[in-house]
Amino acid sequence: MVNNIVSASYLIASILFVFSIRGLSSPETARRGNILGIIAMLITIAATLYSPVTDEYKWVVLAILAGAVIGIISGMKVKMTALPQMVALLNGVGGLTSVLVSLVEIRQGGTTYITSSLGLIIGGIAFTGSFIAFGKLQGIISGKAVTFFLQKTVNLSLLIAITVLTVMFAMTQNINYFYALTAVSLIFGVLAVIPIGGADMPVVISFLNSYTGWAAVFVGFSLNSDLLIIVGSMVGASGAILSYIMSKAMNRSLTNVILGGFGNISYAGAKDEGEKYARTGSPEDAAFIMKNANKVIIVPGYGMAVAQAQHIIKEMTGILQSEGVEVKFAIHPVAGRMPGHMNVLLAEADIPYEQVFELEDINREFATADVAYVIGANDVTNPLAKTDPDSPIFGMPILEVEKAKTIFFVKRSLASGYSGVDNPLFYKSNTTMLYGDAKKVTEQVVGALEN
Ligand code: TAP
Repeated sequence: MVNNIVSASYLIASILFVFSIRGLSSPETARRGNILGIIAMLITIAATLYSPVTDEYKWVVLAILAGAVIGIISGMKVKMTALPQMVALLNGVGGLTSVLVSLVEIRQGGTTYITSSLGLIIGGIAFTGSFIAFGKLQGIISGKAVTFFLQKTVNLSLLIAITVLTVMFAMTQNINYFYALTAVSLIFGVLAVIPIGGADMPVVISFLNSYTGWAAVFVGFSLNSDLLIIVGSMVGASGAILSYIMSKAMNRSLTNVILGGFGNISYAGAKDEGEKYARTGSPEDAAFIMKNANKVIIVPGYGMAVAQAQHIIKEMTGILQSEGVEVKFAIHPVAGRMPGHMNVLLAEADIPYEQVFELEDINREFATADVAYVIGANDVTNPLAKTDPDSPIFGMPILEVEKAKTIFFVKRSLASGYSGVDNPLFYKSNTTMLYGDAKKVTEQVVGALEN
């Protein structure tokens, strides 16, 4: 009876998880998706506690309370721009769980040698790899690609060692092989991620996220848990799809990211075209031109997220619209530092979805726009992606802001963005730089519009 109730609850939770992921695929339904996920998780925890898995409930309750307190505090404190690090940390903990469960399972005499080994290996790599990714993004360890003599040979040897140890363990059931496998997998996780530049960490994190999902699947086989198998497959598959989408949007192969590239390459820069001059303007100039425009397209990027300028942008949009100006938002698939980064910020500021357009839907409109207001975005507008085959961003589709009559770049300097590539648009005759923090500059534009 108890088993039936628990199995039925797990089935309901699995279905809710599927609908939760479905909901997360669009900003309109994301909130509902989140709530469904929370309900599914609560059902899972309640059903697990109800099932006869342990007599030591005080430890379970203590662990849940500790986890909940840490989760609530960090969830409330973390900044939107630091979410990739947070995901890396949570992912690492997921990998560690697979390692611990596999170890306990085998020590207690479990007989699922191959699946426990796979759960342990993949979980171990995800655990240490995610912590290195977290350290790189947080600036605790160098974001640069760390390489050393014979690195690829060492990594290959570790992979061979992992395979040999797994076979030896399955054949002899000698637990020492399992301990050795744990150590080698943890070391491999570190060595696989350190040669990748910090710039590629969001893709790596999504890839490791997929690993954690597959680790959970193998642990699910060892424990005979349908729920872990279903949910693990969902995490594994969605992480893999996301990594693919992210690398495709940057026009790079996943292999190129995983073997190190972006953060790693030495790029000499575009051919020098002699003396370069970037025209500077004032917020008052920008306000005057935009007020008299028919169409303004706003292009948000990472700098808008850093400055938290989305609310003041909404205010600026309102004023321009009341003046009869048509205002649209153009979103590049990899603007910011995580998928959907800009959509989330614009939704937070209550900017209507109808005003927000994806790259392929808005690109042809720049030619008819009077103004492109590029706020904290850089790489996603860089025309070298189309013209310079040596540039690391070559092939990435870009927002063609250069076709607008006037381009305003709101940023603090002429510094490059994430890819480290100078942007020739800064020096074009129809570009005006509005130097300063994205929020402050836009506040001044709003002030000038109001006068
Ligand atoms: P970036 O090219 O990184 O440029 C952001 C610009 O914002 C910088 O040049 C910086 O210039 C400016 N900035 C920073 N803080 C600012 C502030 N407080 N106020 C005003 N400006 C500020 O950003 P992007 O155009 O959004 O492109 C995203 C890049 O990230 C792409 O290369 C993409 O491939 C990469 N990436 C994205 C993702 C996802 S999934 N979104 C994942 C991995 C990698 P100043 O220093 O001069 O102010």
